[in-house]
Amino acid sequence: MTTHVGIDLGTSTIKISCGDTKILIPSIIGEPNPGWTGMSSDKTLENNLVLIEGNKEWYVGELARLQSEVRYALASEGQMKSAENTFIAVKAALSLLMDNPEDDFVLATGVPVATGAEVMKNLSRMMKGDLKINVRNDSTSELFDYKANVQKTLVMPEPYGTYVKILKEKGEESAVDTVIIDIGHGSTDILTMYQGRPMRTASGSLIEATDTLTSRMAKALQDKTGAIIKPFDLMSTIRKGRDQVMIGGQYYSIKEIKNYYSDQIAKIIIDEVMRLIATLPPDAFVEYYIITGGGAHSFGEQIRKQIIASKLVAEGDKAVIPSNPVLSNAEGFELIAQR
Ligand SMILES: Nc1ncnc2c1ncn2[C@@H]1O[C@H](COP(=O)(O)OP(=O)(O)OP(=O)(O)O)[C@@H](O)[C@H]1O
Ligand SMILES: [Mg+2]
Repeated sequence: MTTHVGIDLGTSTIKISCGDTKILIPSIIGEPNPGWTGMSSDKTLENNLVLIEGNKEWYVGELARLQSEVRYALASEGQMKSAENTFIAVKAALSLLMDNPEDDFVLATGVPVATGAEVMKNLSRMMKGDLKINVRNDSTSELFDYKANVQKTLVMPEPYGTYVKILKEKGEESAVDTVIIDIGHGSTDILTMYQGRPMRTASGSLIEATDTLTSRMAKALQDKTGAIIKPFDLMSTIRKGRDQVMIGGQYYSIKEIKNYYSDQIAKIIIDEVMRLIATLPPDAFVEYYIITGGGAHSFGEQIRKQIIASKLVAEGDKAVIPSNPVLSNAEGFELIAQR
């Protein structure tokens, strides 16, 4: 039996879809930082993941985020940095899907649009064949010895996953021209599909994304309160949809500044979409606009309304936000792996 896996290697989070199993892992690996172990109340392998390579160990994902002093982000400026580091994270992630000591896999993987061709090629070459995977649970010290036989690995631009998933949901048989706007953490990727192929001149990335919103809000709150506020700390406020923050024991409403900056960022994204689609050949007819990625929660509705108001789509239901914008790429890649 072969396990088909969809993986979305985002700049902030690796998303994995495999049947009912959906996994989110922070996109970082780190040097081990041995100390007290066994005290964490969360003993899942996913949150205590150590990959062993020869005599070198790597903390992966949440464990690296919380415990490593020396950490390596897998991506920055909207692209995957090193195929080697990414490979470490992917191997560790695969260990979470192993049912037996040895399993067969087909993988379909998405990387940020701006990722260089060389990194993409290296990745697909590495992630093939028989992979020996040794992992340890840092909290329980349990060791696992796996062999993943990867029969095939496809590496594609991230937003392509959502394209495949939404077209299937819409019952489209053929490849229709579509613009996918994937608003992630550190970058927004725009992928234009024309006659079933990515159109490079009409695709691109911009650095305005969710991180821009939290940075601008942090700056505004800092000016107002005099306290130092880290953008990262506003992330969970935004994720929880809260309208207030507590700073120095006092509550402040963030509704106005959040709306103000999300409008601004949404406008920047739409301007870039307009500029890119202006390069399409005259016979192109963009049927769908899809807004996805975690940023769709913050900017999706504004962008969707603007697309409809600008009459870029024939009907409102052709401007789509997937039901789970964070996972939709990984879910689409899983469909590709199954095919
Ligand atoms: N429910 C939510 N509401 C609001 N924001 C959310 C929600 N879920 C995730 N986010 C935000 O979305 C961002 C992550 O989105 P996503 O996982 O699409 O990014 P990524 O794929 O890692 O990055 P990129 O696409 O730039 O490579 C984070 O900034 C996160 O805080
Ligand atoms: Mg993404």
